[in-house]
Amino acid sequence: MAKIKIAPSILSADFSKMGEEVKSLETCGADVVHCDVMDGVFVNNITFGIKMVEDLRKITSLPLDCHLMIVHPEKYVERFAKAGADMITVHWEACQDNLKEVLELIKSTGVKCGAVINPDTPVEKIKDVIPMCDMVLVMSVFPGFGGQKFIPEALDKLRQVKAIISACGKEIDLEIDGGVTEENVQAIKDAGANVIVAGSTVFKATDRAGIIQKLKN
Ligand code: DX5
Ligand code: ZN
Repeated sequence: MAKIKIAPSILSADFSKMGEEVKSLETCGADVVHCDVMDGVFVNNITFGIKMVEDLRKITSLPLDCHLMIVHPEKYVERFAKAGADMITVHWEACQDNLKEVLELIKSTGVKCGAVINPDTPVEKIKDVIPMCDMVLVMSVFPGFGGQKFIPEALDKLRQVKAIISACGKEIDLEIDGGVTEENVQAIKDAGANVIVAGSTVFKATDRAGIIQKLKN
């Protein structure tokens, strides 16, 4: 069983004190920092980009997991890598014709790569590239905003991806993103996910370390 990692999404952090927020995640036992990059085109929201990753790299040793919700991610891969990303995930919906090439590009920069599918995209679409991924990300909300409700159909997709991962015999992480709570996290782990993104659940909690520990165990 792959190690469970909790990846708080800084989308729900206070942007006016991002350094402190990330330091607090470190102290509170987070394993990964999930960075939601949105361009206002691929999704209806705008967050932050390369500079944020570059600055966070200087203040934390936690892995930076950059979830690119942008069109033409291939244009920015090298700059995110140079800024200090440890992992870059790209949406099938953003690179339907060149997903394999974009994943290869990410790998060539020495950064771990991952493919992402939206709630309405079947697993079939990324089946062929799964063996080359370091991680697969199954969205359990439509991307764009934190605090949405978990779409339960994602559990079945996790099981489908997990079966493909097991069959290829490689250690590939399986990440879930969107609407994770204390109540549904066990079902999510049972379905095979080992990297758990949680935005509002972590940042709304009064006891941040406590909630991270609860999600983990
Ligand atoms: C959605 C983002 C998620 C989101 C998770 O577009 O990719 O990472 O911020 O937030 P919660 O956990 O609040 O659903
Ligand atoms: Zn995300």
